[in-house]
Amino acid sequence: MVTAQPSRRSVLSGSVATVVGAVAGFLAARRSGAAKSHPAGAAANAYGAAASGPGRVLLPVGEVPAGGGRILDADGVVVTREVSGTVHAFSTTCTHQGCTVNSVSAGTINCPCHGSRFDLRTGAPVGGPAARPLTAVPVVVRAGQVVEG
Ligand code: FES
Repeated sequence: MVTAQPSRRSVLSGSVATVVGAVAGFLAARRSGAAKSHPAGAAANAYGAAASGPGRVLLPVGEVPAGGGRILDADGVVVTREVSGTVHAFSTTCTHQGCTVNSVSAGTINCPCHGSRFDLRTGAPVGGPAARPLTAVPVVVRAGQVVEG
């Protein structure tokens, strides 16, 4: 039985194409990581700040008002801070019908669509039609930054 052997030239050109593709993918990943608005120097891995999930730097804790919060639309996260200083974070997706919450005031995270309000400490619904809490996002404060944990 005779099998066709690949020529040396075809093996080499296939290897070159593989290396070029890998380099292009690496550069694209680096570029997309650099486009994020995370603070410089907050790299979570070799490619820069994590795009999502554990290690993602959200914002400096000093930018979250005590007894209030900050909505990070690009990250899909609302970060809140108790008067005592304890920081929490939740998904910005309202559990009623999926609108995006748009404010934090008077101790609640508020949805503009049908008026649901959620406790800024627990995410539990305290007013309006939503029956389920906002999805918690685990966070820690590390070196003055709120970071997904
Ligand atoms: S979608 Fe938020 S209150 Fe209806």
